[in-house]
Amino acid sequence: MERLGTETAFSVLAKAKALEAEGRGIIHLEIGEPDFDTPSHVVEAACRALQDGHTHYTPTAGIPELRGAIAEDVGSSRGIDVSPDQVVVTPGGKPIMFFTILALVEEGDEVLLPNPAFPIYESMVNFVGGRPVFVPLRQEHGFRFDLDEFAAGLSERTRLVILNSPANPTGGVLTPDDIAGLAEILRKHPDVYVLSDEIYSRLLYTGDFASIASEEGFGPDTRTIILDGFSKTYAMTGWRLGYGVMPEPLAEEVAKLQVNSNSCTSAATQHAGLAALRGPQDAVDGMLAEFLARRDLIVAGLDELPGVECIMPQGAFYAFPRIAETGYSADELADLLLDEAGVACLSGTAFGHHGEGHLRLSYANSRENIALALERIGDVLSRVVR
Ligand SMILES: Cc1ncc(COP(=O)(O)O)c(C=O)c1O
Repeated sequence: MERLGTETAFSVLAKAKALEAEGRGIIHLEIGEPDFDTPSHVVEAACRALQDGHTHYTPTAGIPELRGAIAEDVGSSRGIDVSPDQVVVTPGGKPIMFFTILALVEEGDEVLLPNPAFPIYESMVNFVGGRPVFVPLRQEHGFRFDLDEFAAGLSERTRLVILNSPANPTGGVLTPDDIAGLAEILRKHPDVYVLSDEIYSRLLYTGDFASIASEEGFGPDTRTIILDGFSKTYAMTGWRLGYGVMPEPLAEEVAKLQVNSNSCTSAATQHAGLAALRGPQDAVDGMLAEFLARRDLIVAGLDELPGVECIMPQGAFYAFPRIAETGYSADELADLLLDEAGVACLSGTAFGHHGEGHLRLSYANSRENIALALERIGDVLSRVVR
């Protein structure tokens, strides 16, 4: 158990809530979840499902209608053929990380992954006795991989590569050229699986989304596991609904892990997911437009603060400013901002050692709150930064 890590966002949220309980007004920029309500037609579909008696266990890998809708959606958005048998529906996207790493990585296997990155990747690799090999993401390179560094990280022992674009915590996006370059490198390593975390694929502000699964030889029928879900796209974090699309033999193993843990995903939640995929998408477009306005507001505001430099994130809903020039470490500054400005955000080190010198601020909060947070951070920094 000592090898298992955690997600700091949940502990900072708990600390911020405790301060709120003492009467402090806290602005929450720490947790990565849309502040919007789930679209009403999705909520209604779940209520209807419950009233219609969908209150029982479902097949482990998901109800056939939802697996079919996911196969169609993932197939058309990535330009590939997907069979419903390659789809496993899970309570959130996170179990796909948990299950695929558990299924694929043996003691001593190497897993190549970005740093900074979602902390659960490293946590799970360590948990199963694998060895994480980090490829740094740097601001100078738009938080994209340096492909030479990526290639140098691969070895005979590499079992799995983890990609995440658009990325948490940086908002960086791999370009179509990056994806083509990665595929070219990985063609020399045909036995390596790719876990492509595409949970933010609909939250992209410029250009087209590129998935490695669209590259020749990298479909989910061969070596790629696509992780995606409903939490971020449809503002459904609390419903717990996600999925993986992967080679059928692996899907069977992952379903076996699910039968040993959750049995299946909540029936009504799966019906909600079906309505989300099949129904109108205007709520998604509306949320994306609002995130874009908030992004521009927070990035411009952060970039003007003393000692802070913030590049424009291309996707997701996180700003990842460099704060090294403030003279504080990332952990110290995150604590200072919570205690003195009442603004909860995360230290970049919550995402790995290459996150030092940065903070992560989620802009999944109202423009009013973002403006107020910027004002409060500005007040503190102008006092403490020379
Ligand atoms: C990169 C990334 N992948 C996966 C997830 C998991 O999402 P969920 O389990 O809520 O679907 C998150 C959530 O924050 C994330 O940031």
